[in-house]
Amino acid sequence: MGLAVAVSPPPARLLGQEGLRSLSGSVQVPGDKSISHRALLFGAIATGETRIDGLLPAEDPLSTAACLRAMGVTISPIAAGQPVIVQGVGLEGLREPNDVLDCGNSGTTMRLIMGLLAGRSGCHFVVNGDASLRQRPMGRVAEPLAAMGAQIRGRAGGKLAPLSIQGTALHGAVIGTPIASAQVKSAILLAGLTAAGPTTVIEPARSRDHSERMLRGFGADIEISGDAGRHVRLTPGHELVGQAVEVPGDISSAAFWLVAGAITPGADLTVRNVGLNPTRTGVLEVLEAMGARIERLEQRLVAGEPVGDLRVRYGPLQAFDISGELIPRLVDEIPVLVVAACRAEGTSRIREAAELRVKETDRLAVMCRQLGAMGAQLAEHPDGLDITGGVDLHGAEVDSETDHRVAMSLAVAAQVASGPTQLHRSEAAAVSYPGFWDDLARLQA
Ligand code: S3P
Repeated sequence: MGLAVAVSPPPARLLGQEGLRSLSGSVQVPGDKSISHRALLFGAIATGETRIDGLLPAEDPLSTAACLRAMGVTISPIAAGQPVIVQGVGLEGLREPNDVLDCGNSGTTMRLIMGLLAGRSGCHFVVNGDASLRQRPMGRVAEPLAAMGAQIRGRAGGKLAPLSIQGTALHGAVIGTPIASAQVKSAILLAGLTAAGPTTVIEPARSRDHSERMLRGFGADIEISGDAGRHVRLTPGHELVGQAVEVPGDISSAAFWLVAGAITPGADLTVRNVGLNPTRTGVLEVLEAMGARIERLEQRLVAGEPVGDLRVRYGPLQAFDISGELIPRLVDEIPVLVVAACRAEGTSRIREAAELRVKETDRLAVMCRQLGAMGAQLAEHPDGLDITGGVDLHGAEVDSETDHRVAMSLAVAAQVASGPTQLHRSEAAAVSYPGFWDDLARLQA
């Protein structure tokens, strides 16, 4: 008989202790998560070597790397500060894996890999993930891929993982997507690389364009047209060639420091090397419109992506009202913007953001529950929130509910709450920002 070992969960993290209230200094956030996934995936199917500097060494990109390794791609060890070398196997070179591909907690891994694998004729794949990922909608990718000829089956009529992908010859198509999602767009473009004939994706609003930029850099034929660049057309038949990719810091991770700096009395923070791609800078525009004291410094172009340093200082904030085309440009920053709204003057309003309900958690409901426990006044709507500003938050026992961005947003709230906060499942932050707690301790010192 085997020994049963009881594994107790890590203790709750204590935040908001007296004496550690202000924030100052400079911080370099880890590499952009979206760009990191794409550098690994495109490097894998290119010919020759891809060198990636600044790759995010966190759980989500590690899931992408593990899936690619299981299909015969050699990827050097992923560690902070080390370049990562991918030995590309070429467009047709991925091997059928002999086990399920485990995407962990990562929606980007699962959705982009569905597009990557759908056209591998004669090979069969099963993709799966953790309890959160198995609840997230995959029909939004499976359906457009089916319009290109893909054969994808799964639970709930093919909408939920585990999913089985029977690789088959695909044909190009013109696909209008009902939601602005870079994951859906990128999956279709990846499938289009091996399809017969061109593929066009038409989005209702423009989502982040890292795939278009990087695929072009690797040699793909991509045309962008339509108002605000909502039409993306890929013509296959061009070999992808390994590149040197430099990954900028993730603006979604920088957002925690931008809000913490703006709402913590006396704070003065500089976040270095932040990606400032215009399809991602919605959070900066909203904070600036709220009156946050943010300076954009040292703006430059790094490997096709705009980058800069951001200095933020404490100051009074006004409420915001966000909806529409802005939402995809700040979708991951909404949890921390909710914290900023609690400390602003006036009532903030978020609408047309129902996508938040199908992220790693239902982020509208979770922020209401957890920030509500700290005294926040939030009214939940099907597609958004109303947030009463000028509210004094108090420390409480709260839970990330396993969501990395919730964990870090609650840490920012604890920074300005009276009394200590105990945060359960704080380790979720490692999905996108493994050094977050160390950076917080250093900036508080
Ligand atoms: C991502 C796109 C966004 C974002 C996610 C990463 C990507 O998701 O929320 O964190 O890398 O393409 P959607 O495409 O589902 O909006």
